[in-house]
Amino acid sequence: MPTLRDAAGTLTLGGVSLVDVARVAETPSYVYDLDAMAAEARELREAFGSQRHRVCFAVKANSAGAVLRALAGQGCGADVVSGAELVLARACGVPSDAIVFSGVAKLGREIDFAIAEGVTIQVESVEEIGRIAERASDLGARARISIRINPAIDSAALATHANIATGHDEAKFGVLVADLPAALDAASRSDRVSLVGLSAHIGSQLTDTAAYVDAARALFAIAREVRQAHPLSFVDTGGGFGIDYGAGCGARPADFVRAVCRELAHQGLGDVALYVEPGRSLVATHGVLLTRVIQRKVSGDQRWLMIDAGMNDLLRPALYQARHRVVPVETSGAPCATVRVVGPVCESSDDFGAHDLPEGGFSLAAVLDAGAYGYTMASRYNGRALPAEVFISGGRIASITAREDWSAWAGDRARAGA
Ligand code: LLP
Repeated sequence: MPTLRDAAGTLTLGGVSLVDVARVAETPSYVYDLDAMAAEARELREAFGSQRHRVCFAVKANSAGAVLRALAGQGCGADVVSGAELVLARACGVPSDAIVFSGVAKLGREIDFAIAEGVTIQVESVEEIGRIAERASDLGARARISIRINPAIDSAALATHANIATGHDEAKFGVLVADLPAALDAASRSDRVSLVGLSAHIGSQLTDTAAYVDAARALFAIAREVRQAHPLSFVDTGGGFGIDYGAGCGARPADFVRAVCRELAHQGLGDVALYVEPGRSLVATHGVLLTRVIQRKVSGDQRWLMIDAGMNDLLRPALYQARHRVVPVETSGAPCATVRVVGPVCESSDDFGAHDLPEGGFSLAAVLDAGAYGYTMASRYNGRALPAEVFISGGRIASITAREDWSAWAGDRARAGA
């Protein structure tokens, strides 16, 4: 359990009381346990056994430098989706040959940078191969590419939110199996690209291994054929390992990895490196959004708890109807009641849902499992400053990135168009 209560009943993360965190960091703030994230990566890597592998952390889940450095320290690579994420990963010590660059609409200059850095570009269309070959030729270089295959897994089979299912045949992602011959042909025709891998990513927050293994099986069968002509150095089964947001999660990240390793060996591909691209599962449960109670309100039968974190800080509930547990930081003897927890943003969807919480006796609350897709999806909507970030390691606060100053936002916007 990532969050625990100390002897006084106060919620802690990584051994630090969240009351102490709120004394030194303005709320709302994301608080991360770096050691637990590193341990998560270590545990996942152990699941590969002797299989050659690479865990490419999906930077979109959490782009904080301290997080990337902690994961890179465990030998993780990175899955990036923009030039900026690529620069970030390199700046945090991730070697170029441990980075894969995905995305359906990469800019020309992003492609140039990736080629110059020698990272593997995951191509998502036949057309993109031609673009990359041309740019590599202009640079007098050779690009490393892998083809992201869309295995056409029915999104209904994933039991995840439709917005985060990506491996079905109507998605914009990847090359359909029917288009693969054209993609291979484009790769073979150009001496400016080397096809070094094949990948797939079917969706996020998968809570059982079946669809993931189905997609891997299909990918590996294709890899067996493709490697007759192209010496593949890796196959990449993507990310998507789910976590338990409170409603349960049948499969652990290591279960996905072990199942896919078995399938890889079964298909005689044990000599090829296995890449995975987890984001959420490495970091989500080891981060909380620490927030202060602003006020309570009773209107008719409805009880509201207004907090200082909103949908601009954590978008997941508004965008995916995601439920994050909200718990009081201080323990109180007050009786519990069902309250609707909402933020300050002027949108009805700025709503963290109904929670059973004490009727009083606490001034701080924690939104749990907020270490992934929290800060990275935050915005300044309604003139709200981006939240603080607090990094815990070795049982103490290792560093704090302060909350933005909201008056700076007002000045910036006043200058817009001036
Ligand atoms: N690889 C690719 C190509 C991806 O598109 C993604 C996520 C990942 C890896 C990492 O997936 P993960 O292991 O984190 O599930 N904002 C949404 C999730 C969007 C995921 C997009 N792609 C959320 O908050 O649930």
